[in-house]
Amino acid sequence: MLLTHEKIEKSPWLLIIFVVLVISIGGAVEIIPLFFQKSTTEPVAGLKPYSPLRLMGRDIYIREGCYGCHSQMIRPFRAETERYGHYSVAGESVYDHPFQWGSKRTGPDLARVGGRYSDEWHRAHLDNPRNVVPESNMPGYPWLATTKLDAQEVMPRMRALKRLNVPYTDEEIAAAPKDLEGKTEQDALIAYLQGLGTQIKARN
Ligand code: HEC
Repeated sequence: MLLTHEKIEKSPWLLIIFVVLVISIGGAVEIIPLFFQKSTTEPVAGLKPYSPLRLMGRDIYIREGCYGCHSQMIRPFRAETERYGHYSVAGESVYDHPFQWGSKRTGPDLARVGGRYSDEWHRAHLDNPRNVVPESNMPGYPWLATTKLDAQEVMPRMRALKRLNVPYTDEEIAAAPKDLEGKTEQDALIAYLQGLGTQIKARN
C-alpha cells in the first residue's frame, strides 16, 4: 500500500518515526563535519595545554561554580566584540575538557579577561569583590588565599587529560608537582584567569 502523506499525518507513531528520522539526518549533516573540520579541531596558533598551576586553577574555577555566573563565550556580534574583544573560536577550547562556554551571565563574560587586570586586582576582588567594585554582588572567596594546593593532585589530572589527547609529555607530568610548591588556590585561580583568551589578542 502506498504510504501517502495523509496516512502519515493520521498515524501518530508513523509521524513520530519520520519526524525523528528527518531531524536526525538534519542534525547529522550539521554536527558530523565539525569532528573533521580543521577550524573546530585544531588548536589556534600558539595555544598550549594548561600549565600545572593554571590547570589547578581551572579545576578550582569549576569547583567553586564560577560558571554559574560567568560565560566564556564571546558571540560574533558587535555589542559583544566591542565590550569583550575578538569573538571566541573553537580552536581556543580544544584542550578544555569540559569547556566552560556556558551562557549564564550574572557577571561579565570571562573568555578574554586575561591581562585585563593586575594580579593584585584579582587578589582584592576574589577576597571580597566590594574591595574594588563597590556595587558588585559577586560572592567573596577569601579561603582561596589561605588554602595551599595539594601538589600531588595534579598528576592524575594531567594523565586523564593526556588520555583525551591533550599533548602532555610524561616528563611534564612528572615535573608538575614541583611547579605547585608553596602556591595557594588563589595563585592557581589567578594564573588561570590571567591566561584566558590571550591567544587571540585583537580587540575590535
Ligand atoms: C553570584 C554570581 C557570581 C559568581 C558565583 C561569581 N561571579 Fe564573578 N562576577 C559577578 C559579577 C556580578 C561581576 C561584575 C562586578 C564585579 O566586577 O565584581 C563579576 C566580575 C568578575 C570578574 C571581573 C570581570 C571583568 O571583566 O570586569 C572576574 C575576573 C570574576 N568575576 C571572576 C569570578 C570567579 C573566578 C568566580 C569563582 C571563584 C566568580 N567570578 C564567581 C558575579 C559572580
